[in-house]
Amino acid sequence: MNIWKIISLLIVIQFIMATATEPLVLIGGALADENEAIYQQIINFGGGNQKARIGVITAGSDPQDAKANAEYYCNLFRGYGVYDCSWIPIDLDHKENNQDPQVLSLIAQMTAFFFGGGDQERISECFFNSHEDSPALSLIRKLHTEQNVVISGSSAGTTIMQGNYMVTGGESYNAVTQDKPHSYIDDNYPDDLSYDPYPGFNIFTLGLLDTHFSQRGREGRMIRLLDFSRISYGFGIDENTALVINGTKGKVIGEGGVWVFNMKKINEKKDELRASDWEIDNVLGSYLTLDDEYDFTTNSITFASWKSSLYGREIHNHPMTPTDDIFSSPNNSELKDRRNPNEMEIVSCDLFDSKGSDTYGLTYEDDPTYEVDLTKDRDQGADGYQGYFNDINYYAFENLKIDIFRY
Ligand SMILES: *[C@@H]1O[C@H](CO)[C@@H](O)[C@H](O)[C@H]1NC(C)=O
Ligand SMILES: *[C@@H]1O[C@H](CO)[C@@H](O)[C@H](O)[C@H]1NC(C)=O
Repeated sequence: MNIWKIISLLIVIQFIMATATEPLVLIGGALADENEAIYQQIINFGGGNQKARIGVITAGSDPQDAKANAEYYCNLFRGYGVYDCSWIPIDLDHKENNQDPQVLSLIAQMTAFFFGGGDQERISECFFNSHEDSPALSLIRKLHTEQNVVISGSSAGTTIMQGNYMVTGGESYNAVTQDKPHSYIDDNYPDDLSYDPYPGFNIFTLGLLDTHFSQRGREGRMIRLLDFSRISYGFGIDENTALVINGTKGKVIGEGGVWVFNMKKINEKKDELRASDWEIDNVLGSYLTLDDEYDFTTNSITFASWKSSLYGREIHNHPMTPTDDIFSSPNNSELKDRRNPNEMEIVSCDLFDSKGSDTYGLTYEDDPTYEVDLTKDRDQGADGYQGYFNDINYYAFENLKIDIFRY
């Protein structure tokens, strides 16, 4: 090998190392008790049945419920056949345990960690001391990076794994219409997009994370926060679904999907007459479902072998009637629930299964109404996939062009 070959090999190795990640199982919340695939995945990373020792962390819970919530998860893990499952007793009422020698020695015995949901701000509060890793977090980080110990989390337990610009609240409509995201939660505007001015654990370093994703129509808030933070990639994980990361690849398991937003080709539109209105053009959105794989080194997707391209075999002649609730607003509610959960995902999948090339949706709220245009631009690599697994129909797609602007 000549010197140039060695240098280029070193560059490639460095690049792979920069994007490689020790095992993570990032769950989008509302994990069903019977979601065996996800529980089993965590157990497998932890050494397998009858071997895994799971440490459950419920620092995101209301401290009154922390112990009971951990017991709930441990019972499930035991039911799926682990060697041992223990609550790691750190919560807002027991924050000092983050440096207790007994708690640290309990942590050291674990072969897998599971962070439950609740509020990511509580998890921060419990695991950082003056914004520095507490001994407990530093030990978990060390086990993860040096011994490949898996870290899993659900909902807030997933969100906390990212670095800067960790989302702390907000609805998509507010996110796209407000002047800019707040670095604090504004009690007067609880539906506004807010983020933590301090980083999360920074264990997942490849982009922004968000959960309960399609169900709560969080596409708008993710895209706004990506644009604001100038971070290029965002991963939005649906409920009862996991992004399983091992090395340089992430695979989707569970019921729903994972949205991936790519901001590399955006154009921001600034209308001179309405300078304060935020608009964006050409975000590329992909949606991965069961068994689809994302390669973090190349930012490319390999769809499950049992799915095939929809191009040329679309069922519908036209996309469905445009929606007037593209972000699944909670204000369009039935019994305090969202009337149209998953709306943008449903509309997007339907577009790929139609012969039409574009569609749009409007926000439920008006004054101002916002429009989201969705376009299958084959020149930018747009393609839809579909397949059946255990009689369930799965859709997936890549490179859907998304434009958001004032109607
Ligand atoms: C993770 O990847 C490594 C290396 O490719 C492999 O040996 C291991 O089996 C994988 N772990 C799981 C739980 O799939
Ligand atoms: C949605 O409803 C909530 C609660 O009534 C309200 O505070 C909020 O302003 C509404 N959002 C919009 C965008 O209308």
